[in-house]
Amino acid sequence: MKSPTPYDAIILGAGGAGLMCAGIAAQRGKRVLVIDHAPEPGKKILISGGGRCNFTNLGAAPDRYLSANPHFAKSALARYTGQDFLELVVRHRIAWHEKTLGQLFCDGSARQIVRLLLDEADGAEIALGSPIRDVSYADGQFGVTFGDRTASAPALVIATGGPAIPKLGATGFAYDLARKFGLKVVEPRPALVPLTLGADEALFRELSGVATPVVARCGKVAFAEAALFTHRGLSGPAILQISSYWKHGASVGIDFLPGADPGWALAAKRTRPRATLRSLIGGHLPDRLAEALGARIALPGDLASLTDRALGAVEARLSDWRFTPNGSEGFAKAEVTAGGISTAGLSSQTMSARHLPGLYAIGEAVDVTGWLGGYNFQWAWASGVAAGRSL
Ligand code: FDA
Repeated sequence: MKSPTPYDAIILGAGGAGLMCAGIAAQRGKRVLVIDHAPEPGKKILISGGGRCNFTNLGAAPDRYLSANPHFAKSALARYTGQDFLELVVRHRIAWHEKTLGQLFCDGSARQIVRLLLDEADGAEIALGSPIRDVSYADGQFGVTFGDRTASAPALVIATGGPAIPKLGATGFAYDLARKFGLKVVEPRPALVPLTLGADEALFRELSGVATPVVARCGKVAFAEAALFTHRGLSGPAILQISSYWKHGASVGIDFLPGADPGWALAAKRTRPRATLRSLIGGHLPDRLAEALGARIALPGDLASLTDRALGAVEARLSDWRFTPNGSEGFAKAEVTAGGISTAGLSSQTMSARHLPGLYAIGEAVDVTGWLGGYNFQWAWASGVAAGRSL
């Protein structure tokens, strides 16, 4: 049998994290092999941000990430910031713009970001369309059998992401591999995902397609962005954000009138006593939504005929309308995976396994999940750089 081709590092996964890591290591003179089963690299980058890739967020602070250890991401994010990635974008002459809330997008195409990563990783060998058949470890060397080849290296980087959007080739391979080499896995769950509503809230399905600015709350977390009613439940940025914090059985509170001053209903009773509640909320909400909420509140008559107490209750309800989702649209529709390879077994400086320093895990495969808005790519870049500098 042919002896394996030797490398300094083998990186499994040619997504954002794997390619970033490959570029940094190759530029340090390391012989790097990247293996991916997909026929082209960076497929998630290509479809991200509506094809324009929201490649970072200028406010990518550690408190915008979920993890069993909220401190874990601090080191990597501090050593490679959104500004650092932006400098790379500028150096590659990619035109960009800030959309909102620190979210940076390409003016042109997400393909430019994949090109940037491939150019940076020029010195690395990239094997695409190569299913990984076996990964072993003996005598300080990792051996990887892929396609009809075998390669070996003292360092192996798990960068195969999480199972969100399996039709793009996403798998839970990272977790199997991590467990095989003694790392624990925090139960993976879909995140940044639309939530579904049960039969008792089916009335809201009539609102499919209606969007409105809200504040969505779950526990102590709140997001002020748009919500969108879908034929299965709730979506839109505010809901995707809150979904990462939502657990089965919990309710989600929606403030449908986020800009309204406290006491607005009582004030309106004084200034517009002949107005109806329906017409009052209709001034602030899309018609169909105002109709549906008005029907549920079911307080006919003009404001003057309603007690202050009833109006206070309406105000409270509209500012914290409770939905209890019966689930989510799952990994098929999730933008990311929450949970993943436990950070407890990893160094936050280098992303290497404490008990097996040649083994690394980066990107979405790790139990670090960002908010919507460029945070997940920033984690892919930052964790990739941390590992790439250590290989
Ligand atoms: P990623 O999943 O990108 O890469 C893993 C690689 O491993 C893939 O190339 C895959 O083919 C390969 N692989 C998997 N299993 C394998 C196996 N068994 N054998 C070999 N190879 C295997 N984030 C953000 O910050 N801004 C945005 O605009 C968006 N937009 C967005 C849109 C959509 C529709 C989705 C689904 C996701 C986003 N995201 C995002 C999230 C972002 O895409 C995600 O967090 C990063 O791509 C994660 O990068 P990784 O490199 O860790 O994994």
